[in-house]
Amino acid sequence: MARIIAGVASSHVPAIGAAIDNHRTDEPYWKRVFSGFEKSKEWMAKANPDVCIAVYNDHASAFSVEFVPTFALGCAAEFPPADEGWGPRPVPVVKGHTELAAHIAQSVILDEFDLTVVNKMEVDHGLTVPLNLMFGSPKEWPCPVIPLAVNVVLYPPPTGHRCYMLGRAIRKAVQSYPEDLRVVMFGTGGMSHQISGPRAGLINSKFDKAFLDNLSKDPQKLVRMPHVEYMREAGAEGIEMVMWLVMRGALDDKVDEVYRYYTVPASNTAVGHIILENRARGGKSAPARKSPAGKRKPAAARKARAPARRAAAARAKVATVRN
Ligand SMILES: [Fe+2]
Repeated sequence: MARIIAGVASSHVPAIGAAIDNHRTDEPYWKRVFSGFEKSKEWMAKANPDVCIAVYNDHASAFSVEFVPTFALGCAAEFPPADEGWGPRPVPVVKGHTELAAHIAQSVILDEFDLTVVNKMEVDHGLTVPLNLMFGSPKEWPCPVIPLAVNVVLYPPPTGHRCYMLGRAIRKAVQSYPEDLRVVMFGTGGMSHQISGPRAGLINSKFDKAFLDNLSKDPQKLVRMPHVEYMREAGAEGIEMVMWLVMRGALDDKVDEVYRYYTVPASNTAVGHIILENRARGGKSAPARKSPAGKRKPAAARKARAPARRAAAARAKVATVRN
């Protein structure tokens, strides 16, 4: 049975990606930001997940204002990088997990939780910056990543409660997947920031830190927070934080907070980051899955199980909404 072992929340500031891509990570300004993710990379290497599900928002890279799905699940085999502004980042193509993604789509939709299935999609900094922060800059991302794009750019975005309940539905879907996969959920975006208008540059550290506290210990305090409160307290773009509630909804009620980092600013944004581990699933103490040789099972060994996964995917085949 697959299981979600942990959740990671992280800002996805595009300037962080530009700092990586332009080799500026050792500059004092950026060193402060990246130093907060050194322990995170160690944690991720040890956690060694089989799959990640990354909740992020598209910034007019894959979807224009002509077409903005509220929740879009990436079911493709791969997702090329794209970006607004600076153009596509020089990062590896994100490889998906078509079988698990199709299973999640089937489970969540048949659970009466409407979701847009996307079989062709590019991914921007909203997804790739958090991958860099947690995995560094490898030639290939170390595991498949299923993108879940949430609309937080065109009114109305989903409520925090809806996001939290989607996380619950994803958790149920993952737990009904027959293969023994260890899954890490990413929630990305935030924290407080406003890009334009009279309040441009707004940062509210008090709100951000309280949000992190509640995300960890008492997420029910957050799920009913109205959009206007995000915008008033955390700026217009602070609404991105509802995406963190998808991640939190996919975890146990009680979790272990194993790491947190908060710094101001990166570009004009507060950077927040937290790692939460499930207790009941053995996330904290479970060793990374190793082959008898002591190393992660090679891709070839994992591919050997592909026929069964493909059969499951065929049963779960769903219609292409965007192609
Ligand atoms: Fe964003």
